[in-house]
This record gives sequence, C-alpha cells and structure tokens, in this order.
Amino acid sequence: MKKQLATIISIALQNELSVTEVTALLEKPKHEHLGDLAFPCFILAKKLKKAPAIIATELASCIQADFIKELKVEGGYLNFYLQQLPIAQQVIAQIMAEQGQYGTRSTNKEAIVLDFSSPNIAKPFSMGHLRSTVIGNALANIAEKMGYQAVRINHLGDWGTQFGKLIVAYKLWGNKEAIEAAPIAELLKIYVRFHEEAEHNDGLNEQARQAFKALEDGNEEAHALWQWFRAASLQEFQAIYQLLGITFDSYNGEAFYNDKMARIVTELEEKQLLVESDGAMVVPLADMSPCLIKKNDGATLYATRDLAAAVYRQETYAPAKVFYVVGNEQSLHFKQLFAVLQQMGYDWAKNYQHIPFGMMLVGGKKMSTRKGKVVLLADVLKEAIDAAFHNIEEKNPTLVNKEEVAKAVGIGAVIFNDLKNDRMHDIDFDIEQMVTFEGETGPYVQYAYARIQTLLKKGAYVANEEPIIHVDEAAWPLIKQLQDFPDSLAKAFKDADPSQIAKYSLQLARSFNKYYAQTKLLSGDEYQQARLAIAHCVALVLGESLRLLGIASPKEM
Ligand code: ARG
Repeated sequence: MKKQLATIISIALQNELSVTEVTALLEKPKHEHLGDLAFPCFILAKKLKKAPAIIATELASCIQADFIKELKVEGGYLNFYLQQLPIAQQVIAQIMAEQGQYGTRSTNKEAIVLDFSSPNIAKPFSMGHLRSTVIGNALANIAEKMGYQAVRINHLGDWGTQFGKLIVAYKLWGNKEAIEAAPIAELLKIYVRFHEEAEHNDGLNEQARQAFKALEDGNEEAHALWQWFRAASLQEFQAIYQLLGITFDSYNGEAFYNDKMARIVTELEEKQLLVESDGAMVVPLADMSPCLIKKNDGATLYATRDLAAAVYRQETYAPAKVFYVVGNEQSLHFKQLFAVLQQMGYDWAKNYQHIPFGMMLVGGKKMSTRKGKVVLLADVLKEAIDAAFHNIEEKNPTLVNKEEVAKAVGIGAVIFNDLKNDRMHDIDFDIEQMVTFEGETGPYVQYAYARIQTLLKKGAYVANEEPIIHVDEAAWPLIKQLQDFPDSLAKAFKDADPSQIAKYSLQLARSFNKYYAQTKLLSGDEYQQARLAIAHCVALVLGESLRLLGIASPKEM
C-alpha cells in the first residue's frame, strides 16, 4: 500500500523525489483522525522554495487512486484516508489463505547460528542466562520465520580452571548422594568452601592447578569426575529448558574445542599475529586491549576456545550470520574475538554479531546469589506458575486444565516480561506484576487470544474465504496492524530485537479489546461472519506472535 502510494506521489511530483525517497518519508499519523498515511512536505518546501502547505495543496489536486478515499492538508502534511473495505478484504483473504504462514519469508534456507543460553557447569543458571535463553530462542524463531535455518547452540561453560578446584573440593568434602540429589546446589557449596579454605591454605590452589592440568592431560579419574559434574548439571539445566519449551541443536560447549585450538594457535603464529607479553601469548589489537590466547603456564583461555568455535562453526555450517546472545558485560570479549578473526584474514567475521542485553534486576537491584543461599531459577519459574494458578483460580475457577494453563501463563509471563523491553534496557523481575492479565503483560496478550477463541465458539464461526463485506470503525486499526505484521517481523529481525514483536502483539491485543468493547461482535446480523473473520485473523496473528516469542497460547484461560 505504502509503495503504491509512494509511486503515485513520486509521479505527481514529476520525480522531484524518487519512489524510495517518498516511501521513506511517508509516515503513520500519530492519531487515527489524521488518516492512515501522511506525507510531510517540509523537505520539498526547502527544495522548491515554497510553503509546505502550498505544496501539499497542489499535490492533493493531482492525486487520485481508487484505494484513496480522501485527502486532507494539515499543517504541512498531506494526509491520506484509505478505502477501508477493499484493503480489509485483501488483508483478511491473505491471512485466511496463509494461516500460520502469514508473514513467513520464502526461503533460501541459509543457516544462521545462534549461540545462546550457555550457562556454566556446576554454577547456578543465572538471570543473565535466562535472558540469553529467552532472547536467543525468540531470535531463532524469528530467523526461521524469515526463511533461515536456525542452528541453536548452547556453548556450555564446561571447561576452565574452576574444574581443578571442583575436583579437589570433591575429593576433600564431596558427598556423592548429595550431589546426585541436587547437583548444582551441592557443587556450588563445595566450590564456595574451596574458596573459603584456600584463603588460609595456600596448598589448595596449587592442588587445583595440578588437578586441572591432570584433566587437560586426559587423566582418567579427573576426566570421569568432570564428565559426571557436566552431565549432572546439564540434567538440571535441561529441566529448565523443558519448562521453557526450548531445545538446542548442539550442546558443544567450551570443552568441545580442546582439540581444535592447537590449529588456531599455529595459524596465529604463522600469520605473525602472536606476540609475547609477560610470558603470555597475546594478539595486540588497535584501539583495545590485546586478546589473551595463552597464559604463561601454556593454558588456553575463553577467547582461545571462542576463536576455535568460530572457525569450527564457519566450516561446519557456513552460516550467513552468527549471533552471540550474551550480556553486555562481555562486549569487549566479542570485539576482540571479531577483530582477531578479521586479522586472521577471515572476512566472514563481518557476519558475526554480538547481541548484548541489559541486566535483570529484582526489586530494582542486581540479583545476587544470596550468601550461601542459591536462588534457583527453577524455583523462580515455579513461583510464577503458582502465581498464575492463583489468578486463574480467581478469574475462572471452573477451567478444566488449570495446571496446564497456569504453566503456559506463568512461563509466558516470565518470557514476555523479558522480551517486551528493548534488549539493552535493564529489566525488573516482579512476579506478581508480570502474571496479571492487565497492562503490558504476556497474560494480557494470551487472554485476548483466548477470548477470541471463546467468541468464535459462541458465534459458531466457520473459517471461510468469503470476502469481508463490512468494516466497523473500531476494526480499521486492527486491519492496518494486521497488514503491518510482515513488515514488523522483518524489522524485528533486522534489528535483532524481539521486543518489537512483543510490542506489536500488545498493541494488537489492545486494539482488539477496544474493538470488542465498542462493537457487538456476536451481532446476529449479516455482518457477524465478517466481524468474526477479522477476530479470527487477529487470533491467528496474536498466536503466531506469541509462538515466535516462545510463548504458548492456551485456548481458554
Ligand atoms: N558461559 C559464558 C558465561 O556464562 C557465556 C558463553 C557465551 N558464548 C560464547 N561463545 N562465548 O558467561
């Protein structure tokens, strides 16, 4: 529509502005009464040395098209009012025909690798990891919708000197049964104890160093312990992923690259990028601190493993893009990583992108692992589900599958609360607030979806492709939003920003509730089918938006 209008305007301007330029200028008016699209004439005014209002008036007199109902000049803008019925007919017919495929890009099936979640073995799954998980999963869903093949990789933090400490701690104070019962809490406990005791026992750190060395050298006992810690922790993480409904294509974490780093180090040497500094090996970089490749004892580092991972992924998946969904505090690490890859001559590094995000706050404060007491994410999620259950009990006590719905609502609330804000903003974690059915919450959107399902049932609605024969006043904003869906998705993907879809869904739900409040949908007249058809399409798009965000949409709640 925009493009069509831009073409007409460009012609009317005798190509003073190109179609692309006009398209970029066309905007959505701030208020409904100002029409559907507005063309600002200020830039032209400078060019043509005429008042904007005069240009708008002149332009109005030479524009005519069957999809334009009316034109009005208003303060230097030319406002367009579109013919609602044909546009509604076209949009609704398209959604009916395409269903869940509405907004889907057809595809070249290029791969896009998403490195997300990536918690650390034997450490609690932090709020930061929750953010990474939720954002990464939404981006993967959106990428698939855009025709990419998403490769979801969990780059587990499963290697490093902390395993030396854990092995020593386990041998001194470990309790097999306790670890099996609650792996992460128990491993964390002995890890904390290690640090406490190491403060007045110098020998411990040296023992840990040796234990890690043994692990790196393939010592069987050390390896078996490591493997156990990893498997037990992973099992706990997987319980969280299951709750969230998230899966990965690969759990290749840092350890996977152990035998893939030597090649990188050799390559760095051959390309003469490696420099010695205080006994360590580094790659000096312009405008930032050098990238540390090997410590003075020869041990490799996080960055070394990420270099190996990047090369491995490039060779394995030949991705068009790679997203690292990792907190903002690791910005320097990724800048260094990409810079080193560039220096190695890997031009593909330009397709590699750090997708940072802000912190999760609880009650306005940074969430900390309270002294000795771990806040387990699984407990927090359970709390959200309980709160949702409580709400449902109150609102809809006769609902049959309350548990299942409470799970969808509680989890949906947590995910939506995360995704509704710009990625970079810190977000607050307030369970009571986020599970309410009102305001800017996931449950609000879910509720609009469920309400439509009930309406369709009551109205004995049968989906068909009969043309829409009527558009109520309050339905017009809905039609325009529905028409916007494909472009909104494309933009959310381009900006790697799921919040745009969350905001879109909130707005659509809000418009629907307005429509519902102002219009009798089950009118029993000849327009009922048309009204329900629009509602049906709204539900389809709401459901699809929630799905992309990683949120379920119960039919009743
Ligand atoms: N395990 C790391 C952490 O918890 C995140 C890993 C992110 N991914 C990567 N390829 N570096 O901080």
